[in-house]
Amino acid sequence: METEMTSGLKELFSSAPETTWRIDQEGFDPYQEHDIESLFTIGNGYLGVRGSSEPLGRFSRPAMFVAGLFSPEPRLQMPQLVVCPFPFSVKLCIDGHCLDPEPHVPEEHRRILDLKRGMMLREWVLDDGDGKRTALRAVRGASLENRHVLFQYLEIEPLNYSGDVEVQFMIPGSASNMGGISHLTLEEASPLPDIGTISRFKTKNDEELAIASISQPWFSDELEVSHTSEGGDESSDATESWRWHSKQGETYGFTRIVSVSTERMNDSPRDQVILDSQEWLSKPMADVIGGQIDSWELLWRDSDVKIKGDDFYQQALRFYLYHMLISANPDDPEVSIGARTLSGEGYNGHVFWDTETFMFPFFVATQPEMARALIKYRHLTLDGARRKAKDLGFEGAYYPWESALTGDEVTPKEVYVEDEDRAIPIHTGFLQTHITADVALAVRRYWHATGDDTFMREGGLEILLETARFWKSRSVEGPDECFHIEDLQGPDEYHIYVNDNAYTNYMASWNVLRALETLEWMRENYPTDAETILAGCEMDQSEIEGLQDYATRIYFPDDPDAPAIEQFRGFFELDSRTVAEHGRKDGPLSQAMEPDLLQKTQILKQPDILLLFQLFPELACKKGFRKNFEYYEPRCDHGSSLSYPTHALLAARLGKFDMALDYLGLTARLDLDDVMGNAALGIHAATAGGLWQAIVFGFGGLRYDEESDSVLVDPRLPDHWESLEFCAFDHGEIFEITITNNPVSWEIRTRVSENGKTKQIRSSSP
Ligand code: BGC
Repeated sequence: METEMTSGLKELFSSAPETTWRIDQEGFDPYQEHDIESLFTIGNGYLGVRGSSEPLGRFSRPAMFVAGLFSPEPRLQMPQLVVCPFPFSVKLCIDGHCLDPEPHVPEEHRRILDLKRGMMLREWVLDDGDGKRTALRAVRGASLENRHVLFQYLEIEPLNYSGDVEVQFMIPGSASNMGGISHLTLEEASPLPDIGTISRFKTKNDEELAIASISQPWFSDELEVSHTSEGGDESSDATESWRWHSKQGETYGFTRIVSVSTERMNDSPRDQVILDSQEWLSKPMADVIGGQIDSWELLWRDSDVKIKGDDFYQQALRFYLYHMLISANPDDPEVSIGARTLSGEGYNGHVFWDTETFMFPFFVATQPEMARALIKYRHLTLDGARRKAKDLGFEGAYYPWESALTGDEVTPKEVYVEDEDRAIPIHTGFLQTHITADVALAVRRYWHATGDDTFMREGGLEILLETARFWKSRSVEGPDECFHIEDLQGPDEYHIYVNDNAYTNYMASWNVLRALETLEWMRENYPTDAETILAGCEMDQSEIEGLQDYATRIYFPDDPDAPAIEQFRGFFELDSRTVAEHGRKDGPLSQAMEPDLLQKTQILKQPDILLLFQLFPELACKKGFRKNFEYYEPRCDHGSSLSYPTHALLAARLGKFDMALDYLGLTARLDLDDVMGNAALGIHAATAGGLWQAIVFGFGGLRYDEESDSVLVDPRLPDHWESLEFCAFDHGEIFEITITNNPVSWEIRTRVSENGKTKQIRSSSP
């Protein structure tokens, strides 16, 4: 048994895929751990576990995140995604001396994030300070077959000694969010009757979190092994220990299964995790790993993008696609993806427009089941949006800028800046109204790409109508007979309390018109549903007619002599200098200028007007795409990570390849090279989605054309890219698109689902 399992683990290292399918990290610098751990997160949409080392170091921020496990933070009056105990903690003791990672810093340390097989591999050597050296190998993953299950395989090899070795598998009895805030109270840490431990915690909301951990050695029966499990009232950690006499050069292996659940998922999480962990412990490693490989193969079949001729972008893109795939759960519409995924504490796990505007197109195109769960979340939280509208004196549904479980607004009122010892007020929660139309856009895009009428009947139309109604109540009619939306903030967060932000006004009008159009469709095709939905929303014919009139009279700037579309009323009267003219070279201008002074300039944090051209490519000729790009691009200081990918996408569409590749490089390296200096707080989810969009929409030129109701491509590849391949779902059919370069030509095939074969449907060149 030993030999078979041992070679199995070694085999996983030697069969690790080629470099564009993995991220490698060599060496061990304790000070870098905090950032690296975010990148090496493993997960499955329910659980996310940071890539911390098994024995934990002082500079590490080990954490497990459980989707939807929020707990209130009274000082900031908002829920936080709870930092849960790190489930892969291991301690090693040699001849009675337990090794803490410091000063025993691992040597010959190597970590591999295996993107293809959805696992993290690690190997290292520990010196006990007396010259006894132990080699360790570990593999961990989060199952896609049962999203409550984590697996960990560990091998230990005394390199230059024989002696007593003890391995302790622990579930720590406490964990805390940044600033030492602990949301969890330990209720139980006890041994299970046969093997393993069970830990139970309660959040401040009284929600139970249960974690079962059980392990098993792969030793032959002849080896004498002592085995104990400890916990109990006084002991906070739950620990399962194995002790034996080990021989130099021999390898000793373990399987460990951790199962995690919360009351949101099970009435009795304790019973469930015990059952799950016992069932999974009995599975041979080959089956667990084999199942993982198969599940990931299926995901990659539709989600992978192949870039031939550029390994750098190929690897970076797969890294970000992996991170999106481990953040979504097709079976759980009660949650959505936070701005920093389940890989870090940034933004408290809250959900922003980042999901709908930046990530959602990837899910719609390649994993429609995941997209469905994400958009259903906005239906399940519609009541929260209704409450927000009502509380602020409006009608309909006003989606929260930051959302958690209920859909109520959870944006903190202020953030405390430690270095400056001051609190900065946050206005976004009641000013950034465009989120409401961003959600509506996602509803329509999902419906259009999937043809999922059931969703439209069971929630989609209700969202569209309630958001449409909100816009009308949020607007005022001016003497010019136009409707104006005042006192708000567009996507560019440097300017607050502006009037008529053109992005918002355009989106509002689009939202209302599409709501009415969808209602008409519903009345024609499902008249009973249409009447039920209208009755549920208490919307009558006169209100519908009022909305029609309103949508066509929303103000939109159209001065042909203006240098571009004016971002908001009065924008062109501000200091018009570009970022370069302000003399700023390193980092955003906002780092050097107070907000009230920045507000008097035309410097933008991120694309605002330009985003319209990303979302609605058909506007290019109608609204002067090139002119707007050339005006706004030099005035953007990229204070947000959302900024680079949009610029990359639009520059590619305009054929400005050098610029497009510069922006694409910044997008691709954002977390891998910690461009923003805050990767420690988690992966920038919007950048991940933005990179896919920049490559597929920008360079690949993919478009869903509403008028011809078909998938179109209009590619522009950089010279050195030999080819680009990706998939896109449309109405339940999957299209495989291959673009070859020099000269550009492309093929669109459709995969026939019954036998997995493909048939070519179009082949063209410009
Ligand atoms: C950006 C927002 C974004 C948020 C979360 C902010 O810096 O300006 O547009 O939604 O980060 O990623």
